[in-house]
Order: sequence, then structure tokens, then C-alpha cells
Amino acid sequence: MSIFLGIDIGTNSVKGIAVDENGRIIASSTEEISMETPRPGWAQQNPEIWWNAAEVVLKDLVQRNRVIPDAISISGQMHSFVALDEDGDVVYPAILWCDQRTERQCETITELYGGEKKIVERFGNPVLTGFTLPKILWLAENEPDKFRKIRKWMLPKDYIVFKLTERSVTDFSDASGTSMLDLDGSFDRSIMEIVGIEESASPELIESAKIAGTVTSASLPELRNVPVVVGGADNAASAYGCGVENPGDAMVSIGTSGTVVALTRKGRPDPKGAVHLFRHVTGNDFYHMAVILSATNSLNWFKERFGAGLSFDALENLVKNAPAGSNGVVFLPYLNGDRTPHRDPNARGTIFGLSSFHSKGDVFRSIYEGVVYALREGAELIEGLGSDMNDVRIVGGGSRSDTWCQIVADNLGKTIWLPEVDEGPAYGSARLASKALGLDSSSWIKMKREYRPNENAKSAYDRVFRIYKDLYISMKERFGEISRLQQDIVN
Ligand code: XUL
Repeated sequence: MSIFLGIDIGTNSVKGIAVDENGRIIASSTEEISMETPRPGWAQQNPEIWWNAAEVVLKDLVQRNRVIPDAISISGQMHSFVALDEDGDVVYPAILWCDQRTERQCETITELYGGEKKIVERFGNPVLTGFTLPKILWLAENEPDKFRKIRKWMLPKDYIVFKLTERSVTDFSDASGTSMLDLDGSFDRSIMEIVGIEESASPELIESAKIAGTVTSASLPELRNVPVVVGGADNAASAYGCGVENPGDAMVSIGTSGTVVALTRKGRPDPKGAVHLFRHVTGNDFYHMAVILSATNSLNWFKERFGAGLSFDALENLVKNAPAGSNGVVFLPYLNGDRTPHRDPNARGTIFGLSSFHSKGDVFRSIYEGVVYALREGAELIEGLGSDMNDVRIVGGGSRSDTWCQIVADNLGKTIWLPEVDEGPAYGSARLASKALGLDSSSWIKMKREYRPNENAKSAYDRVFRIYKDLYISMKERFGEISRLQQDIVN
């Protein structure tokens, strides 16, 4: 029986699963990791912590569970910028997808390239603070000595492939989040020249389900010569892992970030640049995606600070027993700024409408609901671009909450499907590994539960959603001021 390892390099953990050729999970292992936020709006991680965690996970799967795989594939957080010197050592901590320090660099690149319209037409997306290219310019401007040492840049999953195989490669799904890959699928030399990075520092572009090399790493002798597959961006891998493969297929993911993904074959960008257009891990397909930067992160942040001693079960119970609409408490999940739809790095988390009448359950429920309102705004934009969302699956840590899944179904007004396997990107990676070896894994995709929309709950949400949308507009200027004030305090 063939066995495939799927590894995902997340922001809060590195996860590995071993899957047999029938799609059954036979072993899994997870290592928690943490993120540094040295200033408001900053988010970084040393890539070495991903590699250390990946080594622990791989050793655990191989030694404790005695799994020797036929192939390994890796997925990872998108956009985060890994810079290596000529010895392959890390030059500066990876600046992450949710980091907001590069607002000025985005403006510079956009202006020097000829304006946002030209960029969106060529790359499918505007240059955004989360994306890779402005992070390169930030390093060039702020840490020129470190920048000069760069001989290779890559993305998180590629760093692990590099450590395993010594090869610097990336796939199209991850490369499309760098602002350097044009819609025809090539790196654009002229945009790289603007930030001053040599073309030779780029990883080689290879399809997601192709073999990048074999394991050479001395620290993992049991895996020597096992094929390592190129893999894909976490959202694309996650979508593939729950069977998003045809137009009309869609995914809502409630993880550290929250995303709405809908497959499209047309490759047509959003002229307003609010919704992303990226390449999928399957052949020539694309997907439209809306991204919010704090989904389960909003809940975890709130629970850690204010939910002392509350277990997740107790929290779920509190939220389940509070009414749809949270008695009029409204949460804006902008703890790390906002990507879709406002593209505003200065937006800030807000709890609105509190009165002494409100209970703990109302406030916690408003966090679940605020995350879903943000996803609902994204889903409406995606459908407005003509990408259908007929068959919606839900994944991510938040999908373990029945209440959260039901809030999504009610707000989107659609039936939502929960996959039998809820391993997110790692499962998609295992599928890619099996595909690289010529196996058809379509039978792996099974759904275990459906959530149907409830009309009464929907009308309660509709009323609050209207206010939710207006709140950002009325506070936009104040968000800018408060974020400047916060920066001044730390400076
Ligand atoms: C997508 C994005 C996030 C990260 C999370 O554009 O920034 O979903 O991929 O890992």
C-alpha cells in the first residue's frame, strides 16, 4: 500500500499527516510555533523554526509511527518572504503574509511600474502589503547590508523543500502571491528591477504535482532518496484537499486567516483589486479569493486576553446559547488590518454596540459573527465577478465548531458541506504527492455533514450585516489616526 506525507507550514503550527492510497489518515503529528509582533502591524517568524518543527514532525511520523512514505509534499502560508545568503542561511526573519509594514513600498512599486490598472491587468492583483515583492523593497530600504547578502528568495514551503532537497523551486499557486508572476505564468523581470532583486535569486517555477528532488538532508536518514513534490500555496492546497476542482466549487476556510475561494477557468482579475486572482494547484485553473487577516486569530486573541480559564467547549456552549445577531453587538475582525474588501493596513479590531445588558455569550458570539460578516462581504464580491459558489465546503479550525459552520450557512444563504477529513492543506498536499506518482485520488473526497441555511437566522444577520458594513466606512479616518498614534507610541 502506497503512503504519502502531506506537510503544512502554518503560522501557528507545522502539521504532518501520513495518508494511504485510499485517502485514509494513518498517522499525524503537529508542532506548535509562534509569531513575533515586535511592533503594531508587524508579523515575522524565523524560517528556521519552520524547519525545526518540520524535522520534529517528520521524525515523529517516520520513527514513532514507522511510516516510510512513497512521496512527500509540502504546502505553506502564502507570500511570507524568505531571504537566504550564499550559504543558504537566513538573512532576516521572514516578513509574514499578515505583516503591514510595507504600505509605502506598495505605493512606490505601483507608481514606478505605471499605476495600479497596469499592474492588475498584468499580474491579476494590485501590489498589497501582505504580498512578497514590497517586503523585498522594505528590506532593501531598511536593512541594506542584509539585502545585499541575498542570493536566493523563496516562500515558506519552498524553504522546507530546499532544506530537504537542496533545490530552490516554487509552484505557480504560491508564485502568484508574490506580485512577480504575470498572468501568463512567468516572473516579470521589470518589476523585479524596481526592487533591485537579481532574477537569478528566484526559485525555479515547476508545476505543483511534479517532483522537485529527493531527500538529501542528513538529519533525516530514514527518508533519504524519498521524492519531494513541489506542493502548493496553503489556500490552493486546502481547496484541492476538499475537492475544489471545477467551476462552481468553492471553499470557506476559517483558520488563522479566513478565506473564501471559488474556482474560475477565466483568469479575469477584479478591476477594483479587492478580490485576489491566483493560480490553482490543478493545471491551468485559477481561483478568486477573498482574505481576512484574523479569523480564528480573532477568537484566540480574545480568549487568551479576556477568557481566562474558558475551555473551547465552554466557549462553544456560551456562543451557541446566545441569539443570532448577538443582541446587537458587532465585531470588526481587523486585528491585523484588513485585506478584502478594504485593503487597509490601518484598520483595527472593534467591538461596537455594547451596553450593560450584554452577556459574555453575546460578546463571544459577536466574534464568530464578525468573522463571518467579513467572509460574507468577500463571497458577495466573488459572486459579483461571475465566479459561482454552488458547492461550498468549509475547512479550517473554525469548522470544528457546529455553531460557526451554521453561522456561515445562514449568512451566505447556502448549504455548506463539511468534508470527512478536516486536515486542510496537509490533505491537499498528500493528494498532490499521490498525483505526482500517477495516482487518481478523486475517491478521497467525501463529505460528512451539511449545514442548511435558516431563513429566520438569516434575517437577523441581514439587519446587523448592514450596520457592520457601514461601520468601516464611518470609522475609516479614525482607524488611520489611531494606527499612527500606536506607531508613534512604540517609536
Ligand atoms: C492568503 C493569505 C493567507 C495565508 C495564511 O492570501 O495571506 O491566507 O496564506 O497562511
